[in-house]
Amino acid sequence: MGEVKGDPRDDAMGEPRSGPDTASPLRVRIAPSGFEFTAEPGQSILEAALRAGIRLPSSCRNGTCRACLSRLVSGSIRYRIEWPGLSADEKEDGYLLPCVACPQSDLEIVAPGARRQD
Ligand code: FES
Repeated sequence: MGEVKGDPRDDAMGEPRSGPDTASPLRVRIAPSGFEFTAEPGQSILEAALRAGIRLPSSCRNGTCRACLSRLVSGSIRYRIEWPGLSADEKEDGYLLPCVACPQSDLEIVAPGARRQD
């Protein structure tokens, strides 16, 4: 009774956690506003911003409309979807879509439309 089986770091199904889910929250900075917040593992930049009370331009939230188009200044991301609505050239030039981009390190992006939520 009350016994805890397995490694306490394992999830509820007894499977060891792995990958980015075990990572610490990562810090995101938005330029030029200077807003800063943290993103939980697996959270998109847009979701983390909203949770912190910061509104970024967005519409579809699934990587197709490009309303959230921003530019990566530093850090790394991974996409939730295989084909976000960016060309190879745009990716190479540092553009990203925060609605489907999850931080893989502390990062800074340029998003001039960032605002505090009312
Ligand atoms: S909100 Fe549509 S691509 Fe990000």
